[in-house]
Amino acid sequence: MVNTTPTRNLALDLVRVTEAAALSAGRFMGRGDKNAADAAAVNGMRLMLNSIDMDGVVVIGEGEKDEAPMLYNGERLGTGNGPLLDIAVDPIDGTRPLAYGLWNSISTVALSPRGTMFNPGPFVYMDKIAVGPEAKGCIDIEAPVADNLKKIAKAKGTKVDMLTVVILDRPRHEKLINEVRSTGARIRLIPDGDVSGALMTAMEDTSIDVLMGIGGTPEGVLAACGLRCMGGEIVGKLFARNPRELEVAKEMGVDFNKPLSMDDLIKSDKVFFAATGITTGDLLDGVSYFKDGARTDSLVMRSLTGTVRRIISTHKMSKLERISAIPY
Ligand code: FBP
Repeated sequence: MVNTTPTRNLALDLVRVTEAAALSAGRFMGRGDKNAADAAAVNGMRLMLNSIDMDGVVVIGEGEKDEAPMLYNGERLGTGNGPLLDIAVDPIDGTRPLAYGLWNSISTVALSPRGTMFNPGPFVYMDKIAVGPEAKGCIDIEAPVADNLKKIAKAKGTKVDMLTVVILDRPRHEKLINEVRSTGARIRLIPDGDVSGALMTAMEDTSIDVLMGIGGTPEGVLAACGLRCMGGEIVGKLFARNPRELEVAKEMGVDFNKPLSMDDLIKSDKVFFAATGITTGDLLDGVSYFKDGARTDSLVMRSLTGTVRRIISTHKMSKLERISAIPY
């Protein structure tokens, strides 16, 4: 029998990070200002990440697509004392829905041992398929849509026309949507937020079975971290936006045809993950405000133990403002 003292669960530190980002960004719901919302989330997240005892380096940052000034790839975070870690952040997954008061924006962050997260470099899009634990091992990014759905249905003991596929609502997905429709499977189109889309495949009460389609590469790595904790799987392949990107890839020795397995995306089984809802979605409730307070809803997970916590927190604004540099 193995009997060791439990080690520190950094996910419990991470939830303070995503809560701070969600509380800061939540103020900007519906105000039509994506940049102000993003800056607020980044500031909250950065301040809290720097309070964690770790020597962290941002591998998945605000990155190339958003050209954001902070939480950039390569930035060092944490107190510098503690484990050497990779960091993936998405201060707001769903910046547009937040800015326009729509559904499904979350704040999310993950940690893993140094050198274990996929570094996508400047390549912003990947084609993805994600499933929950029951269908793990059944997905192949190179196989036809119908074959993947057949295998997923078999693994889940159901029929293809009982499955629900979540897909980002984008013109580039017209062919994919037609292919899914021709199998008889149901489709849930989401305007944004494919980290939630991927994680929902592993939550029993969402009736989402699979995520398919092209979305952000950073979001793919974050989803891989979350699904590693939940026992699910995501596989993918980089997707070029234009021929120039393929030339850059060639110069850098990056192969866009190489399928990316779960292990390519996240090599470790010591992953910590947290997400907090900013606006309400299928995965999490958004921040709700009341007299001198706010309530947040978070998912907090650790792959080593498989513990998945749902943390509802009540925050007292007047007290926080006295001690914190974050404007709540
Ligand atoms: P941001 O909030 O960071 O813009 O991401 C939202 C999102 O919907 C992601 O969930 C998804 O992976 C990506 O955008 C898809 O990119 P695009 O909107 O360019 O199709």
